[in-house]
Amino acid sequence: MQISQTTTTKRVRKNKKFLRNLLLLSLLLSTLSLLFIFKDTLLRPWTFKPAVPVKSTRTINIMPHEMPASMFKEHLITLCQQENPKTFDYLYPLMLMATKQHRAARALLAKKSNLSNEIILSLRNNPTTFELANMIEMQQGQSVATACKKLLPLIQKLDVTPANKHQYKRKGYGTYYADKNEDFSLESQKNWGNKQRNIYKILSEVRPETVLDLGANAGWFTRLAESFGAHVVATDIDEYCCNYQCDITKERNLNIQPMILPFEKSDRSELKSDVVMCLALVHHLVFLGGLKLDEIFKTLAHLTKKKLILEYIDIEDKTCKGAIANPNFFKNKKIHNQAITMLNTYGYKYYNIDNFLRISQRYFREIEVYDSSSTTRKLLLLSK
Ligand SMILES: C[S@@+](CC[C@H](N)C(=O)[O-])C[C@H]1O[C@@H](n2cnc3c(N)ncnc32)[C@H](O)[C@@H]1O
Repeated sequence: MQISQTTTTKRVRKNKKFLRNLLLLSLLLSTLSLLFIFKDTLLRPWTFKPAVPVKSTRTINIMPHEMPASMFKEHLITLCQQENPKTFDYLYPLMLMATKQHRAARALLAKKSNLSNEIILSLRNNPTTFELANMIEMQQGQSVATACKKLLPLIQKLDVTPANKHQYKRKGYGTYYADKNEDFSLESQKNWGNKQRNIYKILSEVRPETVLDLGANAGWFTRLAESFGAHVVATDIDEYCCNYQCDITKERNLNIQPMILPFEKSDRSELKSDVVMCLALVHHLVFLGGLKLDEIFKTLAHLTKKKLILEYIDIEDKTCKGAIANPNFFKNKKIHNQAITMLNTYGYKYYNIDNFLRISQRYFREIEVYDSSSTTRKLLLLSK
């Protein structure tokens, strides 16, 4: 009797539990179907008006030779953890970076140079890389999985931070903002100059979703644009600056994609942005890169969806004039001579504000001129 009573109570409890679960399941199903029916409406941007800027995102295909050193190392660690055979292609470039030979590493990655016995030997004899270089040799014949397990801790150990060196400037460009006393806080505008204030004003009016900062250096204006909720691609040829941008982006979880990319190679459709910033760069492109204004504007116009903010620096500007007059500014005599030749053959005739305005009219509908940090510098706001 006792036994049968317990069994009945158990059965009733079981039935109740079953009914409750059934109810929960039907509730869940109806919620899901409602969500399914209304998903399009829910995802429409106009249904959501945030008070804070929305973080935009976009996918940019970055080739390994365009990745700043820290990003490249992380990429390699991921490949190694995934036991991807591609890991082995990247070990020598990584070791070149760990021995501060970033340009050689990029040439190898871009297949502009080959892995010579000389490079292999030098890395085997270098105290920073000998362990990894010798390990590669020992891993031959082993499975990818076994090799990757052994290689991973050695890859993780390497420091790939570049030296503060520049392609054509004797002193690096890593302290550009500090040297000019322009490493201001983004939070307080108290000490900002005309350049910072006017670019802030433009960005706050345009509110771009995507920005391309060409020749971004250590990224003061990159981060200013990001603070408006934009996804910013920041390009430069300077290893140290791009790596700094990469580290700071990761540390602060910013919506920035730094890339090692010369202006000369940046005419890529995926980089097209609402706002393109080309600040204090054109004089480099003309006098050191040997580019003509027409070709520069053509690229800029192709990359710009809405507005181009271009900073014009006159030949009479004291830093520009000072640099050309000072051979020690440049990495070597050849680069200095190249700048002088370009100034004499092209600069005096074509490199002036009138010509900038004349050429930009071909590509842009409207031009506004704003003050920048001195009278020899102007900000041109060009609208599509
Ligand atoms: C004078 S700084 C200007 C930095 C920043 N745009 C600003 O206005 O604060 C010029 C920057 O352009 C970079 N640069 C020079 N030639 C370049 C090129 N061909 N492609 C991309 N960046 C370049 C330099 O490495 C440097 O970081």
